Amino acid sequence: MLVNTPDFDKLALGEILDPIESQPANLLPMLQAIEGRYRYLPKEAMVEVALRLKIPKSRVFAVANFYKALSLTPKGERIFTVCQGTACHLRGAPSLIASLEKALGISLGQCSKDGRNGLESVNCLGACAMAPVVTVDGEVHGAMTAKKVSELI
Ligand code: FES
Repeated sequence: MLVNTPDFDKLALGEILDPIESQPANLLPMLQAIEGRYRYLPKEAMVEVALRLKIPKSRVFAVANFYKALSLTPKGERIFTVCQGTACHLRGAPSLIASLEKALGISLGQCSKDGRNGLESVNCLGACAMAPVVTVDGEVHGAMTAKKVSELI
C-alpha cells in the first residue's frame, strides 16, 4: 500500500536528496535517506526519486518493497517492536503483543491515527537470553511482562 503524506514537504525532500548524486546506483541510498527522515517512504518521495534517477517508478517501488528495512506505510514516531522469535514466543511474546495492541489501540503492523505510536514485530533480536524482548525506538527491554509493557507506554 502506498501512502501520501498530507504534510509532505518537498523542500525537505530536496535537502535529503540533493547531496546524493543522481545516478541509478544510488537508488537504495536515496530510499534509506528518505526512510531515515520520514520513517517510511511517502509515495511522492518515491516518484521524485524515479524522476531524479531517470528510472521507472516500478523499479523504485520494487526495491522499496523488497527490503524489510524500508516501509511503504507510516511506522509512528515511537515504534514498539516485539520479538516473536522462538525464545520470546515461548516466554510470552503473544501476550505482550495483545497488551500493546490494547494499550495503544492499534493492531500489530499498524501506526496510530495521530502518527505517534507504531507496533511491529521481528523474528529475533539476538537477545534470546533476555526473552521476551521488546524494543522502543531500538532501545532493548528484556524479561518483559504485561506490567512492564504498560510502564513503557
Ligand atoms: S527470540 Fe527474541 S531475542 Fe531471540
